[in-house]
Amino acid sequence: MGFAAIFFIILGATHAIGKSTTNSTEMNGYHLSDFPEFSKTWQLVTVRHRGDTNELRFTYANDIAWSQMSSGETDYSDGAVFAKVSFVTREDLAFPSSKVPGNQRRIQFMVRNKELHKETAGWGYAIFSPDGLRQKGNVRNMSMACAACHKLVKDRGHVFSQPMPFLDSNFRVQTPSEGQWQNRVRFNKINRENLPTQIAVLLEGHKGPAYQVSSESLPYVFHGTLDEIRPLLIKQVIKGSAPSYLYDEKSDLFAVVKLAPQHKCPSDEVALLSAHSVPNPKKPVFELPICYRKPAN
Ligand code: HEC
Repeated sequence: MGFAAIFFIILGATHAIGKSTTNSTEMNGYHLSDFPEFSKTWQLVTVRHRGDTNELRFTYANDIAWSQMSSGETDYSDGAVFAKVSFVTREDLAFPSSKVPGNQRRIQFMVRNKELHKETAGWGYAIFSPDGLRQKGNVRNMSMACAACHKLVKDRGHVFSQPMPFLDSNFRVQTPSEGQWQNRVRFNKINRENLPTQIAVLLEGHKGPAYQVSSESLPYVFHGTLDEIRPLLIKQVIKGSAPSYLYDEKSDLFAVVKLAPQHKCPSDEVALLSAHSVPNPKKPVFELPICYRKPAN
């Protein structure tokens, strides 16, 4: 792919510049440049699409990771690495039938080293922007938050992605012991008077209870969690017909989703509003309503 080649040339150049600035290019001992050309030489495991943000994600596995994954092994050995690349989608102006990958948003890695990354269940996490800079923030907090969410799929070896069916016709999506999302992420019903202040302010006018992601389900949160959790909040809003939110007391980070009944959507879709915490002195506000296809479950 031509664009991949160009990307890596640009990447090489900006990486060198990155080193000379104060912005770090390293996270947990890893750099984007440690995995050159992974998108050409590793196995493409799967593609996932996010309906609410129209984002495409591609997951790749190196040889060790792929050989274990495709044989159904979930206890990954040292040296296994997964990568995920996220793109915003755009139209192909020449023939706009379906959306195509547009700008890259971020590149993430999970590197298996049981001894080195004991604190994060044996996976070393790293997140970079396409120019090779590590995402800003406290590295330990970020890593704990990556690991906390990935623990939701402990029964898949902390790896969400599953091979696309056509890659391995013998491979059945592992029937996880914990089952569906409702059993992995617990929501507690919180009465209006017990809502955290920031949430109560955002839900002004709402009288009934709201659903909060339990801190046992997600004990660590970083700003990236707020975006990643939104599809799940959406599902819970639809399931429980009440606003749903994630609130992390330690970091004061939160994300909220609620119904937007005034907003018109096609009959098989539902209108939702979402908001999340923003750095002071800005104030969180609800973004424009989105129409979201009602999920089957
Ligand atoms: C709130 C949940 C959540 C958080 C936090 C999170 N992830 Fe993930 N991650 C996912 C999901 C879900 C997928 C599956 C692919 C997709 O849908 O985007 C995934 C996929 C991945 C993959 C591909 C392998 C796999 O598990 O499928 C890597 C690599 C990865 N994430 C790295 C990270 C890193 C690094 C961080 C922290 C900086 C992080 N993740 C934080 C939910 C999360």
